[in-house]
Amino acid sequence: SVETPGTCPFRGTRIGGAQGSKPTLQDWYPARLRTELLHLHSAEANPQDPDFNYAEAFAKLDLDAIKADIRALMTDSQDNFWPADYGHYGPQMIRMAWHAAGTYRIADGRGGAATAMQRFAPVSSWADNGNTDKSRRLLWPIKQKYGAALSWADLMILTGNVALESMGFETVGFGGGREDAWVADDATYWGPETEIQGRDRWEGDPSGEHYDLENPVGASEMMLIYVNPEGPGGSADPMESAREIRETFARMAMNDEETVALIAGGHAFGKSHGGSDPDGVGPAPEAAPIHAQSLGWMNSSGKGFAEHTMTNGIEGSWVSNPIKWDHEYLHSLMKYDWELIVNETTGAQQWKPKDPDAIKTPDAHREGVEHPLMMMTSDIALKQDPAYRKIVEKFIDQPETFDKAFAEAWYKLTHRDMGPINRLIGKEVPSEPRMFQDPIPDCDHPVIDDGDIASLKSKILETGLGIDALVGAAWASASTFRHSDNRGGANGARVRLAPQKDWEVNNPESLYKVLSALEGIQSEFNDSASGGKRVSLADLIVLAGCAAVEKAAREGGIDIAVPFTPGRMDASDEETDAESFEWLRPVADGFRNYQLNKFSRVTPEQMLLDRAELLTLSAPELTALVGGLRVLGANWDGGSDGVLTDRPGTLSNDFFVNLTDFSLEWLPVDADEQRFEARKRGGDAAVVWTGTRADLIFGHNAQLRQVTEFYAGSDANEKFVRDFVAAWNKVMMLDRFDVKH
Ligand code: HEM
Repeated sequence: SVETPGTCPFRGTRIGGAQGSKPTLQDWYPARLRTELLHLHSAEANPQDPDFNYAEAFAKLDLDAIKADIRALMTDSQDNFWPADYGHYGPQMIRMAWHAAGTYRIADGRGGAATAMQRFAPVSSWADNGNTDKSRRLLWPIKQKYGAALSWADLMILTGNVALESMGFETVGFGGGREDAWVADDATYWGPETEIQGRDRWEGDPSGEHYDLENPVGASEMMLIYVNPEGPGGSADPMESAREIRETFARMAMNDEETVALIAGGHAFGKSHGGSDPDGVGPAPEAAPIHAQSLGWMNSSGKGFAEHTMTNGIEGSWVSNPIKWDHEYLHSLMKYDWELIVNETTGAQQWKPKDPDAIKTPDAHREGVEHPLMMMTSDIALKQDPAYRKIVEKFIDQPETFDKAFAEAWYKLTHRDMGPINRLIGKEVPSEPRMFQDPIPDCDHPVIDDGDIASLKSKILETGLGIDALVGAAWASASTFRHSDNRGGANGARVRLAPQKDWEVNNPESLYKVLSALEGIQSEFNDSASGGKRVSLADLIVLAGCAAVEKAAREGGIDIAVPFTPGRMDASDEETDAESFEWLRPVADGFRNYQLNKFSRVTPEQMLLDRAELLTLSAPELTALVGGLRVLGANWDGGSDGVLTDRPGTLSNDFFVNLTDFSLEWLPVDADEQRFEARKRGGDAAVVWTGTRADLIFGHNAQLRQVTEFYAGSDANEKFVRDFVAAWNKVMMLDRFDVKH
């Protein structure tokens, strides 16, 4: 019989997969370096016009009007969608804002509120973020009203502030300027475990001396913001809980006092939800059915919300008036003896006062119903741990100290990943910078002009310091920058202060020589300059790098001017929180062929990629920089690994030419395959070059190899020099928010 076209059961009608269906490249080759992660946040994902300037758009908004809208929303209970506990959305909005900011960890600066990652999986769908999707959905009308001029990231934090203020707490302020991400973050490392609440990240004995949380994670268990409210692994042990609270809060640079202030301040409001059978709760947003429209955790028990809300499983409130700021949490914590009970509905472990006459808390929805107070194991921790307890007692004695501590810690929590104060926008930005913002004095003098720049560059080169030393110092100064929390960078010249000046990766001896010479040049210039003109050491360090790169390019026959923008200032020791800067110390920097340890689970090339991402580099920029730094001899120890050139100090594409030379054979020298030697194939046994994984990856990884081949081309030397200079300048300018705004 003749078939009707299009009805053939076998040809052209069966589809088994589409773009992205499994198995993907990563399934086949899980160990490959995912260079494409550098381009995750490509402009193409962003629907806004390329010239849309969020900071300008936000600055034009009427902040008072937005706050009035948010304030009105607080008590406008949406009874058919998600009724407000106690008639006030404030507490759940505070939790949403805290969880937005609380993913921040200082080890790599990632996480945090700055790009509203709570809208995307995995964070959106962590059990710990249960029902924060409702809070964001309730805010949608306000987001819609102000459109692109008010980012989700700003709206969420502003809402946290308005919530606090509307319940009687005075915040220290709000700064806008957070730009939303448009793509899920598929790159941030949240821990090694693949199961919810896994704890493989810990090493050692929980009750012993050695108990260590791996970096860079900041939470104690997979898919948590910080710690399990029921104690580590659900142990219900307050002392064990205290230990993990201390560790995880320290991972965001919060000390004991800030930690107690935050927990006691936050739990002055709202309640925990364990109002129905956990089995009735549907999947998290990312796994929810399409008709849920990105909401998750749909609850089929009872009403599914209000008194049946099931979030965490622990049920109850810490205080008798959960929508008003006061210090009752602290008083009740200390005043009552608390006993551990098991929530009958959910099986969660929680604490209640032993005293039957202890004050009660009203039901959040039912008139006339009241309940015993509730504490979590993580709250009882603040009472049992001696150091925390002292702070609790101090806060009870000195209520204003508590208010101030909570206000400051909240500001730090919610603004710290925005970086320096000049990135914060709006009339509510506190005028004084805080220590967590790594303050740098404002430029208060005329800066050097083109003539000065030229003569200073000659003076720098006349010192006789090597190109490697000058480039190394400038790189050491600028390359601490990380876009994740906008810390680090050349401005402030903190490379001359502790702890940076002593970091092994910075080659302290060589750095010291460069800094001494530059200080001499600086005082000579400042002493003789007219009209109050001055040059900072921060500027001179970068200028030294420019002079060295220009000289190295000239050696290779290319005359190129490295851009230089003066105006950096020098920070003092007093303006520098040395302990918090220690977190910026690179444990690996493939740009300088540095690796502190061999890491069991991470390769040097992964660490290089990680650092490149923090510097916002594209794959071509990463490649050009490494190739250039190698031939300039910028290895941290002055070593020759990866210096694939016969003329170190000349800026050329030699690294790429020699790496792609297929007459050479590279072989590992150690069983771990960390270092390699290149010899002529089939020829004599002499070692021609040596290199590390951070060198050889440019010939190995397919994406990086294409760029390497591009720069190795016989037509590419000049293009390479131009690209190196552009990427170099980009790194030097990463922290110049003073001129970018
Ligand atoms: C609620 C745990 C720190 C603010 C909750 C809930 C849990 C929890 C389990 C109940 C969630 C629910 O069922 O709806 C913890 C733990 C902390 C911590 C383990 C650290 C040790 C903080 C901090 C803040 C905060 C630092 C803010 C500064 C709140 C608020 C609520 C809440 C306002 C009430 C939410 C509502 O009423 O819907 N917390 N929390 N918490 N938390 Fe925390």
